[in-house]
Amino acid sequence: MEGAQVAIIGAGISGLLACKYTLSKGFKPIVFESRSSIGGVWIKTVETTKLQTPKPFFQFCDYPWPESVTEDFPNQHQVLDYIDSYARHFDLLKHIKFDTKVLGIEYEGPSEEEMESWSLWGGNGEPFASKGKWKVEVEDTQCHSNQVYIVDFVILCIGRFSDVPNIPEFPPNKGPEAFHGNVIHSMEYAALDYKSAAEFVKGKQVTVVGLQKSALDIAMECSDANGLEKPCTVLYKTEHWNVPDYFPWGFPLAYLYLNRFSELLVHKPGEGILLSLLATFLSPLRWAISKFVESHIKNKLRLAKYGMVPEHGFLQQISSCLISTVPEKFYDRVEEGSIILKKSGANFSFCQEGVLVNGEETPLKTDLVILATGFNGDKKLKDIFMSSFFQDHLAGSPNAAVPLYRECIHPRIPQLAVIGFSESVSNLYTSEIRCRWLSELLAGTFKLPSIKEMEEDVKKWDEYLKNYSGQYYRRSCIGALHIWYNDQLCKDMGWKPKRKKGFFAELFEPYGPMDYASI
Ligand SMILES: Cc1cc2nc3c(=O)[nH]c(=O)nc-3n(C[C@H](O)[C@H](O)[C@H](O)COP(=O)(O)OP(=O)(O)OC[C@H]3O[C@@H](n4cnc5c(N)ncnc54)[C@H](O)[C@@H]3O)c2cc1C
Ligand SMILES: NC(=O)c1ccc[n+]([C@@H]2O[C@H](COP(=O)([O-])OP(=O)(O)OC[C@H]3O[C@@H](n4cnc5c(N)ncnc54)[C@H](OP(=O)(O)O)[C@@H]3O)[C@@H](O)[C@H]2O)c1
Repeated sequence: MEGAQVAIIGAGISGLLACKYTLSKGFKPIVFESRSSIGGVWIKTVETTKLQTPKPFFQFCDYPWPESVTEDFPNQHQVLDYIDSYARHFDLLKHIKFDTKVLGIEYEGPSEEEMESWSLWGGNGEPFASKGKWKVEVEDTQCHSNQVYIVDFVILCIGRFSDVPNIPEFPPNKGPEAFHGNVIHSMEYAALDYKSAAEFVKGKQVTVVGLQKSALDIAMECSDANGLEKPCTVLYKTEHWNVPDYFPWGFPLAYLYLNRFSELLVHKPGEGILLSLLATFLSPLRWAISKFVESHIKNKLRLAKYGMVPEHGFLQQISSCLISTVPEKFYDRVEEGSIILKKSGANFSFCQEGVLVNGEETPLKTDLVILATGFNGDKKLKDIFMSSFFQDHLAGSPNAAVPLYRECIHPRIPQLAVIGFSESVSNLYTSEIRCRWLSELLAGTFKLPSIKEMEEDVKKWDEYLKNYSGQYYRRSCIGALHIWYNDQLCKDMGWKPKRKKGFFAELFEPYGPMDYASI
């Protein structure tokens, strides 16, 4: 729609991509960013953070990494410089309103009853409606003044790994209030400058809760600061297949999980009878590949020795996008005793001296607890809506993942898209293809199916998530089925889904962002 006003909330990787691709279709987006710079989660992280995804999989398809970055896993400063240089190259900064926090968005248009009766998205199946507009209320965080913008379309790129921490629940009087020491979340630790972070943990008996990337990195930093004198305890609920490298027994992991062949081994949402039979027939191979990777990790990290062998398989780990690289020498620290691993079961609680675990009477003595327990991305997304009508629709059922069609559009929320909520193992690549799809939708290249059809599709993906990600289905991870997912977006946009040259390349070569560069 000519002259339509598009608002993008967030100027992390997803927001910048949304800005670039909507501009390419002739829109003039306005980007609201609560911070004073671009880059989202990459603006400030713990000191040791590096990209976990190999660089070739985490790059803009029309703006490769500069040759000066030779590392496979660049550090946070290199990632931030790369994002910054992308934004300058495509002249995106002038579209961003910094220090502008979106307080909430409200839809003004047809009544809730009318919206409930729609069979097409927005009533007419179009991204823009003549009657409805979004009211975006923002706060200028510098001068503390509020302003309202009226826009035709909203793209939510607010990220899911920041701002709203996931804090465990505790019985009354057994939470942090009962404890004499300090309790912080990993995001507060990450917000400290490096020197202050090291000083903050120095000389303290630290307990880190969690066993994913934030927990591993922070535990390593605590052990750097305190060594054997004050060992750092890592309190974890579930053992994970955290990886030492991406070459199980010398074979590239990408050839086992990120090519078309690997996707033939799993049941896919919307697959036909032939693909379904093939996935069933090939299931022993799927199991064998998972065991192959597991044996490498077990062997290299000596997991059995430390009682750290997970109960679930590697396929579930990668299908949940829970791929954390283990810091170098992490298990050497476990061996020497400067990191202690302790399983907490489902619950732990606080008492005055520290943490009570597994019903033990003697507390784990602690001065500082760092909750590396992840983020509540669902709540963050839900809370941006002012009305409970949209909040409830967005949240969907408590027993299903957030219901987004193509992981971008809520079938019952008009004139709005979400980018960067559902995860993959390379989130830049994923956000880019979604933004390209969305910009084609906004430009009218294709139309969405009916609400009913979209909801049926969402349900099939939900079944896939529950089948392969188990208890982690709410992470909405498409990581192990990215090509199948991309194929659907490509077909919608009228692009050729098969991007490789030749039968064997198509079947066995891993897919990445550069496969879609030439479109
Ligand atoms: C430390 C860390 C390391 C990571 N490493 C990897 C990796 O190696 N590989 C990988 O694939 N993924 C990684 N991820 C996942 C990461 O989230 C994505 O790679 C990607 O950077 C997310 O970009 P985003 O734009 O979707 O979200 P974010 O980077 O979270 O950006 C969201 C932006 O929205 C802004 N915002 C939020 N709410 C509002 C509001 N109400 N008003 C205005 N602005 C708002 C925020 O300030 C922020 O700038 C990592 C995440 C973290 C936390
Ligand atoms: N590139 C990097 O270096 C880097 C650095 C940091 C983060 N990241 C990324 O940022 C994202 C967030 O990572 P994250 O490590 O902060 O969070 P996360 O991946 O969500 O992990 C949360 C951890 O907390 C545990 N946990 C949650 N609730 C708990 C409870 N009630 N009691 C005990 N443990 C609990 C989880 O255990 P269970 O599994 O048992 O539930 C899990 O181990 C991920 O995508 C990650 O890859 C990347």
